[in-house]
Amino acid sequence: MRLRNRCCNATQRRCNHGGGSPGTAGALHDFDMGFGHLVREHQQARVLLASLVAHGPDETTIESLADLLTRHMADEEENLIPFVRGHLPTDTGPVSVILAEHDTHREILATLRRAPDRALIHRLAGLISSHFAKEEEVILPFAERLAPGDA
Ligand SMILES: [Fe+2]
Ligand SMILES: [Fe+2]
Repeated sequence: MRLRNRCCNATQRRCNHGGGSPGTAGALHDFDMGFGHLVREHQQARVLLASLVAHGPDETTIESLADLLTRHMADEEENLIPFVRGHLPTDTGPVSVILAEHDTHREILATLRRAPDRALIHRLAGLISSHFAKEEEVILPFAERLAPGDA
């Protein structure tokens, strides 16, 4: 099942998630892309984190990671989380945990931008790994099951 693209079709705004055809950055996503771009961004973040863990902190990679995750978390908070919340009777566990973890990630990224630190990179890598696993194993499958037209 493919989920219709919530992040763009909901508002008909243009976005920069790279969901269009090659060379059409900023175009509307393909209609059936769903939240797949979030998983692709997870993979991009994993690559950057693996590089930081393997080679130690460098400012360029930290900036790339911070930019990517800042946009990614904002996207989730503006699109994925409201969509999931709209189908829950109360604001229950997983969503609250995800949002609290975003706050922690933002704090760590801000600290790393000021002062790159190997131990903090390792801590962030562990937290992000756990966070992405929750999203990919719980939140995103839940969102996909809610897709209209699939019932
Ligand atoms: Fe997240
Ligand atoms: Fe995510």
